[in-house]
Amino acid sequence: MQGLLEGKVAVITGAGSGVGRAAIKLWAEHGAKVIAADINLPNAEESVKLAGAPQGQIKAVECNVADPDSVNAAVALAVETFGRLDIIYNNAGITVLPVPGVGMKKLVDLDHAEMRKVEEVNINGVIFGCQAAIRQFDKQGGPGVIVNTASVAGLTGYGGVLYGSTKGAVVAMTRTLAIEVAEKGIRVNSVCPAGMLTNYGGMNPEHEQKDKILEGMGRAHPLGKAIDTADTAGAAMFLASDLAGNITGVNLPVDGGLTAGKKVGG
Ligand SMILES: NC(=O)c1ccc[n+]([C@@H]2O[C@H](COP(=O)([O-])OP(=O)(O)OC[C@H]3O[C@@H](n4cnc5c(N)ncnc54)[C@H](O)[C@@H]3O)[C@@H](O)[C@H]2O)c1
Repeated sequence: MQGLLEGKVAVITGAGSGVGRAAIKLWAEHGAKVIAADINLPNAEESVKLAGAPQGQIKAVECNVADPDSVNAAVALAVETFGRLDIIYNNAGITVLPVPGVGMKKLVDLDHAEMRKVEEVNINGVIFGCQAAIRQFDKQGGPGVIVNTASVAGLTGYGGVLYGSTKGAVVAMTRTLAIEVAEKGIRVNSVCPAGMLTNYGGMNPEHEQKDKILEGMGRAHPLGKAIDTADTAGAAMFLASDLAGNITGVNLPVDGGLTAGKKVGG
């Protein structure tokens, strides 16, 4: 089978860990040329090494998505290195750490500095990524693809008020922007994963109780399996690919059926 992203040029943010790390490997295996952008450059470089793609197919860059100049520079690097931009995957995101014994911080306990930090990355970071990509698509005079990362926390009441509201903003932004840019042939969709065991929110993918944690996560889903980073990277790749050429404005749950509802009766 030919790669789903053969000949495409993509910028993937948050490429130094978790979903981003899985995405650069999978997307490169499917033929994409990738700029692996992360605020943590050594981690992005490690992701490039682990992807094992031919020399030059993936390039790591330091990029803070909360700084529009930094995002513009990552897109400019894609153009300088690979000649164009076809896809941006706005995957970088952060959350507040759960409070031991309490869970996610309650609204009344949020402080303003913390709110600003999460909003800057999760909302404005996605807006800056969309702006940088659309300006480049316009320069190229052609279509393009945006994939955002929201969360089941943007579709339901999971995940705490602060994080959930930032991801709800990504859900709304994805729909609204899809309509705004549809006439240019630009598609905008998001993936909405359920919990994955990554470095996210103070978790640790190499936790000594990993198997137990994954089993617990899986029990929450009708399909009974925890969500893996490759599940999300794969769903995002489908949305980025020409297979999804007539799909826009969709927020796709990657959640083992979690948001579909609960089994009732026997
Ligand atoms: N892990 C989960 O349970 C889960 C569930 C639903 C949605 N998500 C979303 O998936 C996305 C990826 O999460 P993950 O689980 O891979 O997390 P992760 O923490 O393993 O990886 C996130 C990466 O983003 C980078 N990053 C953080 N701030 C950045 C910034 N300002 N600029 C550029 N890069 C930055 C980090 O350095 C890290 O490499 C996030 O948007 C997250 O909200 C995660």
